[in-house]
This record gives sequence, C-alpha cells and structure tokens, in this order.
Amino acid sequence: MLEKKQFVKEKFSNISGRYDLLNSILSFGIDRYWRWCVAAELVDTLRTVKGPVLDLCAGTLPLSKEISRHFSKHTIISVDFCHPMLFDGMEKADNNYQNIKPICADALQLPFNSDTFSAITVAFGVRNFADINKGISEIHRVLKKNGKLVILEFSNPQNKFFSMFYKLYLNNILPSFGGLISGDKDAYKYLASSINSFYTPPELKKILENQGFLKTAFTPLTQGVVYIHTGIK
Ligand SMILES: C[S@@+](CC[C@H](N)C(=O)[O-])C[C@H]1O[C@@H](n2cnc3c(N)ncnc32)[C@H](O)[C@@H]1O
Repeated sequence: MLEKKQFVKEKFSNISGRYDLLNSILSFGIDRYWRWCVAAELVDTLRTVKGPVLDLCAGTLPLSKEISRHFSKHTIISVDFCHPMLFDGMEKADNNYQNIKPICADALQLPFNSDTFSAITVAFGVRNFADINKGISEIHRVLKKNGKLVILEFSNPQNKFFSMFYKLYLNNILPSFGGLISGDKDAYKYLASSINSFYTPPELKKILENQGFLKTAFTPLTQGVVYIHTGIK
C-alpha cells in the first residue's frame, strides 16, 4: 500500500510541469468538456446543501478552476498529496480563483471533521488510491447528509471497433508520446495499465454503495472512455 502511494506521488511530481499541456494534447482537448460535465452535476446540490466543496486529488487544479468558474461564491478546498502538482496549479491561477484553497494531504486520511462538505469531486484520482474502500469511506465521512459525490474516471469503451483503436492509442501511442514530452515514460505506462486493471463502472458503483452511498449512478462520456459516477450521502 505504501509502495503504491510513494510510486504515485513520485510519478506525479516528475510530470507536474507538463501535466496540463499533456492532458490537453493527449485527450485532444476533450478533458475540458469532461470537467465541465462534473461541475454541471453540482448545480442542484449546491443550491440546497450549504458548505464548501472538496476537490480531491486536485492535481494542478483544472477541475477546481472549472468549479470555481461555475460557482464563484463557493469555497473550494483542493486536496492533493503531491505538493509539486498543487504548487504548479496555484502558480498558474490568477486572481479569479481566490475561492480555491489548496491543502496538501492524503485522501485516505483527510484532515477534516465529519459532515463538512456539501459536495466532493474526484477527477482521475480514485484509480490511484492505494485502498479504494478506505478512500470512498473517508469521502463519505466528510460529506454532509444529502451532499453529493461526483467521480470522473477512465474506463474501457464498450464498442468493439472504437475500443480496438482506443487500446492501440492507450497502450502504445500514449506512453511513447507522453514519455517524450514529460520525460517519464513509466508515468504514462502506469496510466495505461491502471486504466486497464481498474474496476468496471458497475463494480465501482457497488463500492460506493458498500460505503453507504445512495442513489448511485454512472454515465458514459465519449463512447465510455470516461464515466461520471455519482452518489448521495
Ligand atoms: C491524474 S491526476 C488528476 C488531477 C486533476 N484532478 C485532473 O482533473 O486532472 C491524479 C492526482 O491524484 C493525486 N493523488 C493520488 N492519490 C492520492 C491520495 N491518496 N491523496 C491525495 N492525492 C492523491 C496525485 O498526486 C495526482 O495529482
């Protein structure tokens, strides 16, 4: 468990400076739309449940910034255990993002009281947890009653024809190109292997339910390259 934590921290520290650029190139710019969809999921909840929003595994803050653009009056606590990722994100943030408060901490041991947040988002983070059940249980603990969890995570497309090209891209092109630009090919090999071996959407739904989430659902985006998972406490 400690090994995975150290490995993930090290990989993201190595690529932090190029993370945003590579995200845009490697997803052909679609990642911005995916994060927009996550922010849109919060509209109803933030109207009715009071309290700050927690963006977990916030990295260089792309989702925190998207949420900030949608909900400028809400405080967004952005947590990541990789300091260089948060630092890079804050360096690139202008005055429009003063409602974002970064905190360096481990998602599996959150430094917050129970029942604190109105909503919690995790984009491309849960796949990296050393213990996913512990991570989801921590999220459930710090979320308020009626608060909403929104997870954005990669998956494997169902369409066989599309999936063939996607696998070729994920397993071959992405590690080579990502490695070339970031200087760490292993980080992009890890990305591919962690997507290949991650839970299916129904399995992740079950994990959320086992940790106490209600009204769980998942929706595919871009042919199932990513899914949005939601649940209510
Ligand atoms: C792929 S990046 C995602 C960044 C951002 N959410 C986005 O939308 O691009 C994953 C981030 O999760 C962080 N991370 C992974 N496991 C974590 C944990 N247990 N606690 C805190 N951060 C974690 C990594 O440091 C990394 O910055």
